[in-house]
Amino acid sequence: MPSITSPPEPAPRLSSSPTTGKALRNIADLPGPKRWPLLGNLPQIKPAQLHLQLGRWAREYGRYFQIRLGNRLILVVADHEAVASTLRDRPGGFRRTERLEAIGLEIGIKSGLFGVNGEVWQRQRRMVMAAFDPGHVKAYYPSLVKCAERLAGRWSRAANANTVIDLQADLMRFTVDAIAGLAFGTDVNTLESDEDIIQQHLDKIFPKLFTRMISALPYWRYFKLPSDRALDRAMVAVNAAIDGFIMTARLRLAADPARRSAPQSLLEAMVAAADAPGSGIDDDQVAGNVLTMLLAGEDTTANTLAWCIWLLHEHPGALARATAEARSVLADSAAVTLEHLSRLEYIEACMNETMRLKPVAPQLPLQALTDTAVGDVAVPAGSVVISLMRHDSVDDAFVPEGRAFKPERWLGESGLSAASAKRISMPFGAGPRMCPGRYLALQEMKMVLLTLLARFDVSFVGTADGREPAERLMFAMAPVGLQMRLTLRDSAGVRL
Ligand code: HEM
Repeated sequence: MPSITSPPEPAPRLSSSPTTGKALRNIADLPGPKRWPLLGNLPQIKPAQLHLQLGRWAREYGRYFQIRLGNRLILVVADHEAVASTLRDRPGGFRRTERLEAIGLEIGIKSGLFGVNGEVWQRQRRMVMAAFDPGHVKAYYPSLVKCAERLAGRWSRAANANTVIDLQADLMRFTVDAIAGLAFGTDVNTLESDEDIIQQHLDKIFPKLFTRMISALPYWRYFKLPSDRALDRAMVAVNAAIDGFIMTARLRLAADPARRSAPQSLLEAMVAAADAPGSGIDDDQVAGNVLTMLLAGEDTTANTLAWCIWLLHEHPGALARATAEARSVLADSAAVTLEHLSRLEYIEACMNETMRLKPVAPQLPLQALTDTAVGDVAVPAGSVVISLMRHDSVDDAFVPEGRAFKPERWLGESGLSAASAKRISMPFGAGPRMCPGRYLALQEMKMVLLTLLARFDVSFVGTADGREPAERLMFAMAPVGLQMRLTLRDSAGVRL
């Protein structure tokens, strides 16, 4: 069984900055919230609101502070320049945490790009990037159109029946179908079925991985709660399904060897890369990456879309401009093409603004591989550093009217150049481990927004009690309880 016990607290060994020569502070000397004996700050943290608590502490204690989770001393950094240099200092200086890798493996998640480190990461990253190149994603484009068409069908039925749409659930169906098509070359079609087999299992994995990550006590090794048993069942089912997908992909490649050089799905591309002599990739790593794509690509994209649709509805001026753009881009067209998506400048600005205000990965924990410094703080090898991704990016000192939803700022229309906005807001991370799915995610999101705005009038987006949707963190940060009501645009309209 992999060990997830904490290493002894590392002692600071650097006293001055290797780059500036200035004296460094020690993590243990930084300000931070009062803590309990043994448990540290754990009693003050609700897992689903960890990011909000860290944000409040950053406002109270400054952009560098310390917390303790059990006996683990952790540096929390909100300074965007220090965050960017930490993220760029990979793979040599920082890795994803040992705890993430160990807990993932213990749960039964095979090694995939998000969790691995060192040489294995380098090999897997090469394989995944080759599979993700924009040319490849373009080849997959017709399936994306098919998923958007089904979503439009689902929403048309809801509009005709005047029923409330569970926004998050429908967007998850769309992203699962889109990723499964891309990753497996398989049409799972959760948009038109009520079975949702893969989704039901996937939904059990992220929340558990996340709560185990920050749990002080690995109770699940001694007794299992019903949710732990449900997780075990979900992992068996998901891993068996993925093994089946790999077998089918191998059969397809054997029947048509030309597909090895022109793979039709991410899975075929990965199997072909794994089979190349000296690749160092085996079927377990291929399976691990198929699951990684599903997990990393489902909630992130669906949650960002849900936040964007809500923010647009809250800002009628922005909604009107985005709607006008969607309808004019599609004015005389019978079907959406990639070229249409590339013309959605304002809609892209809305997505960037959404990800600045509502980054679905609001914090990124990393672990130092060597004695190093983050800003003016000495970070001994082995220390965990949590980067806060939404602090400077919503602060008026860096972004004028930082808390306001103003998509036009991404088009250089309101005081801040898009280039500086991008340096401060990093929703896809930064450096060599930046999200490889970002191009696909942007295409998916544009496709859904185009479908929504060109075909429907949005009559309501909000929560049942009329309050602002709460933010819930389950690895990815999601809005709670968003509902939507649509009416069909009455013009014979645009076909997608
Ligand atoms: C709006 C949608 C998305 C957001 C906001 C997002 C965000 C992120 C972030 C913040 C990271 C960590 C980057 C870092 O450490 O610097 C990441 C990594 C990753 N993402 Fe995404 N992501 C999205 C969609 C996707 C999609 C659609 C896929 C795949 C289908 C994907 C696959 C991955 C993988 C495999 C990694 C790990 C990369 C590595 O460690 O080398 N993501 N993503």
